Amino acid sequence: MARTPLTIRILGLAAGGALAAGLAACGSDGVPDDADLIAGKQAFVKACSACHVLNRAETKGTVGPDLDEAFRRSLSEGFGRDTVRGVVLQQILHPARLPKDSPAYMPPKLVEGQEAVDVAAYVASVASLGGKDTGRLGSAVAASGAGKPAVAKDGKLAIPADPNGQLAYTTEKASATPGPLEIDSPNESAVVHDIAVEGNGVDEDGEDVVNGGVSKVSFVAKAGTYEYYCTLPGHRAAGMEGVLTVK
Ligand code: HEC
Repeated sequence: MARTPLTIRILGLAAGGALAAGLAACGSDGVPDDADLIAGKQAFVKACSACHVLNRAETKGTVGPDLDEAFRRSLSEGFGRDTVRGVVLQQILHPARLPKDSPAYMPPKLVEGQEAVDVAAYVASVASLGGKDTGRLGSAVAASGAGKPAVAKDGKLAIPADPNGQLAYTTEKASATPGPLEIDSPNESAVVHDIAVEGNGVDEDGEDVVNGGVSKVSFVAKAGTYEYYCTLPGHRAAGMEGVLTVK
């Protein structure tokens, strides 16, 4: 069977051991003493969630490979989690396997220094695990989309994108009264989003925004239900949507 680039990397690291030698001492579970898994999880969700599935981090991006799947085979073949950690760190520092103009291009050094070490340690410690993180790790990142319903005021409704870069708005529910309505969706994260509204004869799509931009749609709301969602590829499927009720 053809070897994937990932398998080749894993074999290279396991055989060379060069990277392991340069890393801090490891505990029995392969987590280096100087790595902070909580910080690693938080940074992973911020910098990586838009493109990667990782069950334990509850991220659902589909632009890049599913990281649970990516490491399942090598873990089952007996490669240790410390090897996985080396591969993740390498990938963070030197990803550029796709051309820069590809929409799936993973930029190098999305996280750097200690943060890169923490992210690699977290990903390696949870890759391919079912279930949920527990304890402080379990509550390290607020659940996305679970915020209080948004309620329109004076014909304006605010539905922010998740500020941590998760593929979600802060709420999956919104309400308004009939009449002219402007929906503002501020996006503080570094992941591009927009907001679109569909239903009751309305089909409007706001601008793509990032880093503090605000995507806006305006229409005359009639009694009934509408769906709002992000049109960026894969975002709606990952849960970046909600229902607006007008009555
Ligand atoms: C813009 C989308 C995007 C972001 C953001 C992103 N990645 Fe990736 N990632 C990709 C793509 C696409 C690939 C596969 C092609 C490549 O290597 O460039 C990939 C590959 C990987 C791989 C190798 C898996 C394999 O099967 O080869 C790892 C590990 C990885 N990324 C980790 C991360 C981590 C950790 C972060 C956050 C610091 C991150 N990625 C952020 C798109 C992204």
